[in-house]
Amino acid sequence: MKIFVDSANLSEIEEALQRGLAGGITTNPSILSKEERVDFKLHIKKIIALLENYNCRIPLSVEVFSTEPREMLRQAKEFAEEFGGYEGLNIKVPIGWNELAVIHELKARGMRVNCTCCMSFNQAVMAASAGADFVSLFYGRIRDIGYDAFSIVERVHRTFREGAVPTQIIVGSIRHIYDINEALLAGADIVTVPPKFFPQMVSHPKTDEAVNQFVGDFRKWLEG
Ligand code: E4P
Repeated sequence: MKIFVDSANLSEIEEALQRGLAGGITTNPSILSKEERVDFKLHIKKIIALLENYNCRIPLSVEVFSTEPREMLRQAKEFAEEFGGYEGLNIKVPIGWNELAVIHELKARGMRVNCTCCMSFNQAVMAASAGADFVSLFYGRIRDIGYDAFSIVERVHRTFREGAVPTQIIVGSIRHIYDINEALLAGADIVTVPPKFFPQMVSHPKTDEAVNQFVGDFRKWLEG
């Protein structure tokens, strides 16, 4: 079980690194578009520099931003040239018929691939069969259209385990804390979490009550 950080924001990533939470980083074009508009390659390089500063060689997913397979391959080549020195680099490619050929080609070139935007059991199986290192299942978006995201993750997990498939399941598109809990219970290897959820995940009113009581009781005792 691992937690990844679903963000391209340097402060959010650093806060997770400082707490040892970041098992990996996932970005996508929408996530990057929330940051200051600069050359995005420069921004990815800043993320890499930050990870290296913390001595981290964790997976970092960078997604192609085209729907045209030849252009996807060109972008992936460019990513490898620009960021290839970072050994945790994963190229994120959306699932699709022509995209499977892109994944297969990237694998032949020795790159690590995260096949993203998977919404179904079939898509996850196809992505793994094409050689993807990770399949990203989008929990919130699956639920948006009334499908049972828990069962899909559970079935993919069971099938990969029984078939000794090495592809790891990332669950993304987290909308509530409970999505994270469910995804882990369903067998996700990794949940990639928007950082706004991290502080909530460690807070509990009864914890605050207990800590305040302990500190208060001890202070009273010290003061006689
Ligand atoms: C995962 O890798 C994706 O970046 C992300 O979780 C997508 O989530 P969304 O449905 O909020 O766009």
